[in-house]
Amino acid sequence: MRTPIYLDYNATTPVDDRVLDAMLPFFREHFGNASSEHSFGWTADEAVKQARERTAKLIGATPRTLFFTSGATESVSLAIRGAGDIYGGRRHRIVTVQTEHRAVLATCEAMEREGYETTYLPVGTDGLVDLDALEAALNEETFLVSVMWANNETGVVQPIPEIAERAHRAGALMMTDATQAAGKLPISVNHDGVDLLALSAHKLYGPKGVGALYVRQRGPRVRLAPQVTGGGQEEGLRGGTLNVPGIVGLGMAAQIARRAQADDAERLEALRDRFEAAVCAAVPGTAVNGAGAPRLPNTTSLRFEGARAAQLLPVLHDVAASAGSACHAHTDEPSHVLTAMGLTPEQARATVRFSLGRPTTEAEVDVAAEHVAESVHLVRRRAAA
Ligand SMILES: Cc1ncc(COP(=O)(O)O)c(C=O)c1O
Repeated sequence: MRTPIYLDYNATTPVDDRVLDAMLPFFREHFGNASSEHSFGWTADEAVKQARERTAKLIGATPRTLFFTSGATESVSLAIRGAGDIYGGRRHRIVTVQTEHRAVLATCEAMEREGYETTYLPVGTDGLVDLDALEAALNEETFLVSVMWANNETGVVQPIPEIAERAHRAGALMMTDATQAAGKLPISVNHDGVDLLALSAHKLYGPKGVGALYVRQRGPRVRLAPQVTGGGQEEGLRGGTLNVPGIVGLGMAAQIARRAQADDAERLEALRDRFEAAVCAAVPGTAVNGAGAPRLPNTTSLRFEGARAAQLLPVLHDVAASAGSACHAHTDEPSHVLTAMGLTPEQARATVRFSLGRPTTEAEVDVAAEHVAESVHLVRRRAAA
């Protein structure tokens, strides 16, 4: 078995061999610019078209509703800022949630400095949005509701169709950051009532630096103002030469994810439950954050009484896991997600996120569970000494 055992697939995933194989020709023989009017350009454009179809299909959308970006952070920013520029005149309020990814929170905070208002909804101890609080927050000033589909730290899955229904009743658009959900859960933008959806290739065995934004085109047609202007690419919504190899990679990753989703989910959930059970049995004083809510099949957020993640992770060198999210890896700030769920800062600091992926094996989770147990015991002994 290769060590360290990688259990940080929510941070990023390796590129699937089939994805890489699909991408490589677009760095070399098919290097054309998708905007060029000659055979090199047409080949690239054809490949982008196919990738758009494949990516759209992953979320039950049509190709013309899908726009390529540099990743979920940009998709989120384009959706929220782009909607603000169009709809934010009369309505200037965004309703979002305290446990959102920084991509959403930082965008909202920046927009507040420009005069927008944001309501950050609380969550229960299970991490779920309180639908009554949502209803109370919605009014005729709200142009956008932004709620992530699944949380990157805890895996908690929000009831998106119910939230969308309430958003629409108030006349607001429904936006969701589906970065962690895409490929892990079945998604159908029409069935689920989503108007804007952000996703990223590197969370689903595609390359880094490429993502997509779904923008509803019918019932209603959602309009966004471009945030990167340029050569009119992506219907003028996002300027800049298309990242053809990356887009091809996203398309292939999306196709594989769509076909594998149900099997992956079943297998990973069983492995995740096995891992959780093994750790909880071997380490008294372990709690599963978000255990009471629907969760992503691959994610577990474990809290070890009396053992700080910052001390645990260096000891746990044979397992690659994360304290909170990858973007908070270098701070000692307790996770805003966990404190919003009612954990004390100390409890939040005692939490480690383990996220499994397609390559994860039963042997890996068994060995990882043993390492985790040994490491927690060691950290606790040191703390007591
Ligand atoms: C929920 C969520 N939203 C947004 C992002 C940002 O994605 P990207 O790295 O593609 O910008 C991430 C990844 O860290 C995420 O987990």
